[in-house]
Amino acid sequence: MDRPEIILAPGPTPIPPEVLLAQGSPLVYHRGPGFGNLMRDVTGRLKQLYRTSDADILLMTSSGTGGLESAVQNCFSPGDEVFVPLAGFFADRWKRLAEAYGLVVRTVEYEWGTRIRPDEVAAALAEHPVKAVLLTQSETSTGVIQPIQELAQVARDAGALVVVDVVSSLGAVPFAFDDWGVDVAVGGSQKALSASPGIAFVALGDRAWAAAEHATNPRFYFDWATYKRFADLPDPENPWTPAISVMQGLRAALELYFQDGVDVALARHRMLSRAVKDGALALGLDLFGEGLEENWTVTAIRAPEGLDADTIAARIRADFGVVLAPGQGPLKGKVFRIGHFGYFSQLDILRGLAALEMTLERLGYPVKRGAAVAAAEGVFAEPEG
Ligand SMILES: Cc1ncc(COP(=O)(O)O)c(C=O)c1O
Repeated sequence: MDRPEIILAPGPTPIPPEVLLAQGSPLVYHRGPGFGNLMRDVTGRLKQLYRTSDADILLMTSSGTGGLESAVQNCFSPGDEVFVPLAGFFADRWKRLAEAYGLVVRTVEYEWGTRIRPDEVAAALAEHPVKAVLLTQSETSTGVIQPIQELAQVARDAGALVVVDVVSSLGAVPFAFDDWGVDVAVGGSQKALSASPGIAFVALGDRAWAAAEHATNPRFYFDWATYKRFADLPDPENPWTPAISVMQGLRAALELYFQDGVDVALARHRMLSRAVKDGALALGLDLFGEGLEENWTVTAIRAPEGLDADTIAARIRADFGVVLAPGQGPLKGKVFRIGHFGYFSQLDILRGLAALEMTLERLGYPVKRGAAVAAAEGVFAEPEG
């Protein structure tokens, strides 16, 4: 019998039945009070999640990358200089995106898996001021959560706009748009919120609006001013036909998320992350990347000596239907990644670890059966807090 695959990859994440039902229900027509309420509910919840009182939240029908592109289009003009500290695949995406729009990208390059050093960024900005710093909170390719609060501070001190990719982190790790002084933060529906792919959300504050007024990069579909004009209608709308079904699912996903509240969701992510990490360590595997204690979104695990990480990911999928993520860029074949953000339960993690144990054993790696599962259960048995 064909069964759905078990997704343990860093997005899209498994979708809860409540969300599937909501997005499978009749369409709410996208002009009128029904959709207006939907927009109000979703943006209201997202504001709470971003921890902002004054920022605007714009909802766009696209994957996360579209939201990132909208930031580059709306904030900048060709020739503007921006700073992108490079420490992984998604930081590099910022660079490529900015260059595609004619921006001049200045960088400091870090080895993948490194946490970016705010003092080094501060020194680089002092030497050469830029218009903005483009950051990635959860560097999904390495699992590292970057120190956004500190980086935003040094960027602000240097007079630069702070633009953050929170696609794979919003809802999984702490984030505070207002308190941290962030100007633009871009998230996506298919990650920690466990809705379907298809909606990008962009939070933006006054300094970003001011930049948008003067920016001359070409834009049409993602023109923030157009989104704002429609969002400000008595019944808020999208300028273009939105992914209505995904939006209906996203509202249900946010309702689920907020049933227990943000703090409980963050604590769950921390616990599941620790369970995966302790499980892998119990199998004698090495973890990749700095700041493991804080890296609650995805865990990059080194393949053991003599085994190719892509083979492990392919085999666990073929034998058990478990989808892990392969290594990207220089980590290809060296690490495989387990995503643990989203609507995962303890048992989801246990079955993933059990499948990993059996897969490694089948590939000839010596495994103490049940060791990873037992280690994860140990984490779950700890008193909360
Ligand atoms: C940190 C980060 N940024 C951006 C993206 C791109 O998002 P999308 O595939 O939704 O365009 C991803 C997707 O994995 C991501 O993890």
